[in-house]
Amino acid sequence: MSNARNAHVEKWVNEVAEKTQPDQIEWCDGSEEERERLTQLAVDQGILTPLNQEKRPGCYIHRSDPKDVARVEHLTFICSREEKDAGPTNNWMAPKAAYDKLGKLFAGSMKGRTMYVVPYAMGPLGSPMTKIGVEITDSVYVVLNMRIMTRMGSDALEMLGDSDDFNRGLHSTLDLDPEKRFICHFPEDNTIWSCGSGYGGNVLLGKKCLALRIGSFLGKTEGWFAEHMLILGVESPEGEKTYVAAAFPSACGKTNFAMMIPPDEFKGWKITTVGDDIAWMRVGDDGRLWAINPENGYFGVAPGTSNKSNPNALKSVAKNTLFTNVATTPDGDVWWEGMDGDVPEELTDWKGNPWKKGSEEKAAHPNSRFTAPMANNPVLDSAANEPAGVPISAIIFGGRRSTTVPLVLESFNWAHGVYLGATMGSETTAAATGKVGIVRRDPMAMLPFCGYNMGDYFSHWLNMQKNIGRPPRIFQVNWFRQDADGKFIWPGFGENMRVLKWIIDRSAGTVGARETPLGWVPDEGQIDIQGLDLSAEAMKDLTDVDPAAWKAEFELQEELFQKVAGSMPEALKLQRELFLSRL
Ligand code: OXD
Ligand code: MN
Repeated sequence: MSNARNAHVEKWVNEVAEKTQPDQIEWCDGSEEERERLTQLAVDQGILTPLNQEKRPGCYIHRSDPKDVARVEHLTFICSREEKDAGPTNNWMAPKAAYDKLGKLFAGSMKGRTMYVVPYAMGPLGSPMTKIGVEITDSVYVVLNMRIMTRMGSDALEMLGDSDDFNRGLHSTLDLDPEKRFICHFPEDNTIWSCGSGYGGNVLLGKKCLALRIGSFLGKTEGWFAEHMLILGVESPEGEKTYVAAAFPSACGKTNFAMMIPPDEFKGWKITTVGDDIAWMRVGDDGRLWAINPENGYFGVAPGTSNKSNPNALKSVAKNTLFTNVATTPDGDVWWEGMDGDVPEELTDWKGNPWKKGSEEKAAHPNSRFTAPMANNPVLDSAANEPAGVPISAIIFGGRRSTTVPLVLESFNWAHGVYLGATMGSETTAAATGKVGIVRRDPMAMLPFCGYNMGDYFSHWLNMQKNIGRPPRIFQVNWFRQDADGKFIWPGFGENMRVLKWIIDRSAGTVGARETPLGWVPDEGQIDIQGLDLSAEAMKDLTDVDPAAWKAEFELQEELFQKVAGSMPEALKLQRELFLSRL
């Protein structure tokens, strides 16, 4: 590690060391030597187990504490000075109370442990949109994951120079007691304190904590967007490239969509991935919205990943990947529910216990994950590391809805598009606790990730319009509509290309549409269904707008308007009125 360390980082590291009392401090440089050494250490300590190195070179599995397997929304806090700035959809703790409470938990928490100092960049090195963070952690698992998920090490510190403008992230695993688990964000201090968990979303502080919760706050303050969106490129057979950003709640297939392979009928078309989870977007000199993916890897849900759903994700996890809470085969490979091929007779389940085919229990945890380097993706977009980012032509909002919401819809204008995003709902899945199939409002898929008042977030979206000279068009999609027998009508996965094509054509102004009270929908024949086992009748059902169902939906949306009442922008209330009158 170079001795030209940043004085502000050094001062803060010393303060934290005084508080947490580690046995030693290690500054991470991101080198290959460091990766090998820390991986070996993690193996020696039983934190990682090597997988079959012939089948999966450089791959390891981590089995977590069975009570520490997911994000904990009820223990996640926005600690803004004023409670109203956290808003009605976030948990709030006063900053002083949070610093005091967690300060007591951090006191002496690293005794007998190594404290790792992990400098990292969110975004391509040298990009004006990139932000620097430093995470202090006592977990070697965190270090090895951050190394994949971010641009970590000396390069990040070099980019910081002698500036004081970096996110201060502090994490201690403590003893994993859920009673001592807190994920606290201090937007006004650009600080995150996380303790008592080892689960990715709670402890890889660059991801949900910095890139979304703190990021959204910085975005509002500085005039840009931090969104829970994938970014993909669509290349036509003529080589024309269009970029699209899309927000879907967790477990609605963002990673699959971002790496999709177009169907045979779309010969010569290609999808490339810029990002699968987070987009930072700002207005360029040309008046367009330019996006970067702040991450450098994929922290994806393993179950359901197969050659049918996402062949490129399978290729991405072929090497140098860390798996968490998947099952393993007798020959040391990984397995999860929904993988291709026959279910193996015997496995070791995610808890490390023997598992037999036909068992009631799932072999892999439903939220088991892979952490894979972005560079492994065979369809990584050539501009994924471009400091300027990519220009966005369309924004898509989508949820999981078995009824009511049509396959695809284009908003009439920007404010209407914001309204579609804001009122987005999605049905809960078995992967989360609680009742299945209940529609939960998840505005722009940001409900668990917006670091400030949701009403102010809507205002920010509306206000940005005046800065965007050439705004992307805004769409809503729903791949999940079901027929009377409860079967999905739309085939999904790679076939979503057919819908994407209409979106691209609309954005280019080369195809028409049919007007409905909800917005513009594809007219008959405008979505190419050649080669699909889908009748014209079914296609009609998919794009059908049922006024009675929409009246009911309108009532359901009222819940959100009530909740955010105090800060809901007038422009969205007006959109609601307009919508009702059109109905
Ligand atoms: C994720 C999530 O891990 O949205 O990306 O939960
Ligand atoms: Mn996500």
